[in-house]
Amino acid sequence: MTLMKERKADHIEICASENVSPGYCYWDDVKLIHEALPELNADSIDMSVHILRKKLSFPFIVTAITGGFSGAKKINANIAEACAELGIGMGVGSQRAAMENIDRESYAVIRDYDVPLVIGNVGAPQLVKQKDKNAFTEEMMCDALDLISADVIAIHLNFLQEIAQPEGDTNACGCFDAIRNIAGKCPMIVKETGAGISKKTAKRLSGIGVAAIDIAGMGGTSFSAVEMYRAAAKKDHIRESIGRTFFDWGIPSPVSLMSVGKDIPVIASGGIRNGLHAANSIALGACCAGAANLVLKDAMVSADAVKKRLTIIREELRGAMMLTGSKNIKALASADRVVLGRTKEWMDQL
Ligand SMILES: Cc1cc2nc3c(=O)[nH]c(=O)nc-3n(C[C@H](O)[C@H](O)[C@H](O)COP(=O)(O)O)c2cc1C
Repeated sequence: MTLMKERKADHIEICASENVSPGYCYWDDVKLIHEALPELNADSIDMSVHILRKKLSFPFIVTAITGGFSGAKKINANIAEACAELGIGMGVGSQRAAMENIDRESYAVIRDYDVPLVIGNVGAPQLVKQKDKNAFTEEMMCDALDLISADVIAIHLNFLQEIAQPEGDTNACGCFDAIRNIAGKCPMIVKETGAGISKKTAKRLSGIGVAAIDIAGMGGTSFSAVEMYRAAAKKDHIRESIGRTFFDWGIPSPVSLMSVGKDIPVIASGGIRNGLHAANSIALGACCAGAANLVLKDAMVSADAVKKRLTIIREELRGAMMLTGSKNIKALASADRVVLGRTKEWMDQL
């Protein structure tokens, strides 16, 4: 197995079997105010949204997970089938492998399903030269997007992971210019991978034509934790220690969401574990919620298991809309709420 295939397989295995999330649930700090007399019929609530010129039946995206090793095809197919049936968005994992002609079919399988919003994925570190590796060319990127008929490209920011990873690509110089260059040519999401996006960085990105950001904040999957487990298995004690130290590094997801504000459409992810968390994120200003780890184990089993998980999310979201008297997503966005606990402590100092 190549190093990249091995890393991809390790990530799936570790995320499905180990504790990779900090213990505290920041999304539970958000409390929507109960409406005892909602004057709504739950069956008539309109949960649809338009995002990036596509209509989703409810505001949810299964964000980037995998591609590029043999087990990834089944996972992507199961997620794609469920997302197509439920009418929501899906991202594939980093397409670096596809660009290096490895297991391209594990990504291309998404084309077999009618997913309403298909999101490609390239890492910011691959946009610039790294030690002995050259930056990917525009042609390679266009090819990766064509491979899955992507509606939009997501450029992921994962420098937390890169510093914790034994084989990490740690040169970030030039990434912003490279992002600006691509944003001028195709619709783009910039996403984090578990450490959140600050107000300052969001402002820089909104100024160069990025269509949306996915904050992917701290509180869900920690790639520092993932790399800690990988390093421990390889007896690399230095990287294991770095991974442990930075386990809960980052901006908590709801804090990142609130501080970014409304300059740019925001996808809220990082620790979303149920439909109430998704509702909380909409009430705090997100246009859509997203999750990865939530569906991973189901995706390793069957499309039906993923459908069941996502149906629970949708019905919990509907419940929250009913109980806040929100007849549609716009109404939910202005629902009354309070913010407590550590999330409030963060916000008080920003
Ligand atoms: C197994 C696994 C693999 C991931 N691989 C990628 C990736 O290739 N590209 C990317 O942008 N994000 C990747 N992510 C990050 C997710 O898209 C998401 O931003 C992050 O996990 C936070 O969401 P969560 O707490 O719901 O997992 C991955 C997440 C998981 C769990």
